Amino acid sequence: MILLTRKAEFSSAHYYWNDDLSAEENQRLFGKCANRNGHGHNYTLEVTVAGEIDPVTGFVVDLKQLKEILEREVVSVYDHRHLNLEVPEFRVAIPTTENIAIAIWRRLAGKIPNAQLYRVRVFEAPDLFADFYGEFESPAQDGPGTRPEAQFGVGN
Ligand code: NI
Repeated sequence: MILLTRKAEFSSAHYYWNDDLSAEENQRLFGKCANRNGHGHNYTLEVTVAGEIDPVTGFVVDLKQLKEILEREVVSVYDHRHLNLEVPEFRVAIPTTENIAIAIWRRLAGKIPNAQLYRVRVFEAPDLFADFYGEFESPAQDGPGTRPEAQFGVGN
């Protein structure tokens, strides 16, 4: 087995807010990030897949196809969007780096032919990133939107 990582970038706006809490509590927890007008980040996504090398091509996956899948499933949905307002999974889940990593995992799970999704890493900034390895996810044929509208994030 070998791991292969492809990067992609997207720029999105977000804010942090939990409707279950008071305005004061949101302000206390999230500070400037609670500003409902939002603010932007240039995110870097690293998607790592695991698989066996095809003896004919020397590849684990078709790189062009992997790029297209990232573009279709993630970048075209998140790039130049306000995550809270325009991306369905963040109407409920707070679009933290952690939750974005989980959401991207769910968008990609089961969509990459001939390889297994191994890790989703999302950088919100060069000095901050979150990793998700799909723990606690059922083996996913189910894509985004088929899950209960739960808050993401195991334990937060
Ligand atoms: Ni932010």
